[in-house]
Amino acid sequence: MSETQQKFILRTVDLKKSFGKQIAVNNVSLDICTGEFVSIIGPNGAGKTTFFNLITGAFRPDSGSIYFKDQDITRVKEFNRVQMGMARCFQITNVFPHISVLENVRLAVQAKSKHRYRLFINTDKLKELTEYAYYCLEVVQLKNLASHLAVSLTHANQRKLEIAIQLASQGELMLLDEPTAGMSAEEVPGIIEVVKDIRKKEQKTIVMVEHKLNMVLSLSDHIAVMNYGALIAYGSPHEIQENKDVQSAYLGRKVNP
Ligand SMILES: Nc1ncnc2c1ncn2[C@@H]1O[C@H](COP(=O)(O)OP(=O)(O)OP(=O)(O)O)[C@@H](O)[C@H]1O
Ligand SMILES: [Mg+2]
Repeated sequence: MSETQQKFILRTVDLKKSFGKQIAVNNVSLDICTGEFVSIIGPNGAGKTTFFNLITGAFRPDSGSIYFKDQDITRVKEFNRVQMGMARCFQITNVFPHISVLENVRLAVQAKSKHRYRLFINTDKLKELTEYAYYCLEVVQLKNLASHLAVSLTHANQRKLEIAIQLASQGELMLLDEPTAGMSAEEVPGIIEVVKDIRKKEQKTIVMVEHKLNMVLSLSDHIAVMNYGALIAYGSPHEIQENKDVQSAYLGRKVNP
């Protein structure tokens, strides 16, 4: 294993993406250290989700490169990036609504295993897949709702289910795009607890886009700040709070929770 592989799980170099005249991501170079919790913040329309879409392969960059575990993945397809160990959670909920909570997770476990193309799998294998699916549901505190249809879950629980689906794909890198989006104030602490728990139990690198600054400041090792498509700052929570460019991007306010 090379030194860079140990140090960085993900590197973007001069990544750029425009939609017509709108430059959504403007030459962003960011190195994410293996095992760290990194948050990406920035005002609405700053380019955070587009940046995620470039990392996962949902969008092709106009220019620049992406390296995952030292491999140039700039032209690797989205599905293959998942197979390589990348998992993502969307800003908008993305689960199969008319199957059970457990089935949603078990399908993700199976998709990652070598049994993914088999219609019939033996009982032992099915038991193993199911046990892992239950483990993922336990981590996100949804085990008691395993038999419920996904559509019957509250919005907050659907987001938890999405996180369980990500866990099921067993990626080393988790990308969370606004895990608390659309939640009520009472629902937010539950998600924070789940993300904290994953951090504690799983050896994963987590990159999270989030507007809730208190959550970002309390969870992150490092914070990247985007504004108008550009990366304007990267540092520890303390450094980011003190950074003048960041304060002015947030309308002259000090970055406080
Ligand atoms: N598919 C698309 N087609 C055209 N323009 C897009 C598309 N996706 C994003 N944009 C534009 O790119 C810019 C960055 O959008 P993006 O969704 O990445 O911002 P964001 O930082 O995730 O914002 P938010 O905090 O509101 O989620 C915006 O001006 C947006 O309108
Ligand atoms: Mg977004």
